[in-house]
Amino acid sequence: MDQYAVFGRPIQQSKSPFIHRLFAEQTHQQLTYGAIEPSEDESFAEAATAFFQSGGKGCNVTMPFKHDAHEFASQLSERAKIAGAVNTLKLLDDGGILGDNTDGAGLVADLKLNHVELEGARILIIGAGGAARGTLLPLLEEKPAQLDIVNRTASKAQQLADLFPNHDNISALGFQALADSYDVVINSTSASMTEQLPPVPAAIINENTCVYDMVYRQQPTVFMEWATHLGARKAIDGLGMLVAQAAESFAVWRGIRPGMRQVLRELNKNLG
Ligand code: ATR
Repeated sequence: MDQYAVFGRPIQQSKSPFIHRLFAEQTHQQLTYGAIEPSEDESFAEAATAFFQSGGKGCNVTMPFKHDAHEFASQLSERAKIAGAVNTLKLLDDGGILGDNTDGAGLVADLKLNHVELEGARILIIGAGGAARGTLLPLLEEKPAQLDIVNRTASKAQQLADLFPNHDNISALGFQALADSYDVVINSTSASMTEQLPPVPAAIINENTCVYDMVYRQQPTVFMEWATHLGARKAIDGLGMLVAQAAESFAVWRGIRPGMRQVLRELNKNLG
């Protein structure tokens, strides 16, 4: 049977095996999907080489190995190049390894599943780390009117905007420059993990704003509660992005796109 796996450290909390096994069942694909945590004295490249040599067909890669996977791949998709990180590796027919990044496509797919209009929208992304970077190209492909990046360290936001010299609708801002409201506000900072709010003014939210927090927890995040209190139209957490990036990886490997709703239902049951 074709073998797949997720690599990370730690890995025992990963939901990827659960998600991909359900996808395989749903699409009648014969495959196994495991979880691999390279030991402290083993590099990602060594662990991945062993996996592919023993018959692995593809893997997901999560913290802290997304940059190692980017180095490991023998060729990169356009979106992985711009993201500077890889979350999906695929063995190619010629023996090469394709590095891809499905995180941003996952975000866009989940926004669409939630009926959030992106074409012509004014979008704000808060944060300029790896999570933000992976979303920029897929968001720009949806043709927003404006994509602003705001970050505590403004120079990092500028570095991300500079990755797209041919787009005049992407800009970097400091928090003090935020004055107008947005149609879509995406929180990519790690602040929600520690119950903190990024220092954004209430002015960015109006009654038509949809906010998206890339983090998910059993309860709405502090950022979602803040936006809802200000009258935002929708507040969505990142569970759907997790499932959608997995669906996109599955499609890269198997050429068939699984549905998300059944898996989301099952995950919500487990979280609740
Ligand atoms: P990831 O790869 O998950 O994006 P990262 O690269 O460490 O992680 O980036 C974390 C992001 O969250 C950064 O944009 C960080 O801002 P700085 O670049 O100024 O460090 C942002 N961040 C983390 N905690 C924050 C907080 N309490 N308020 C605002 N921004 C925060």
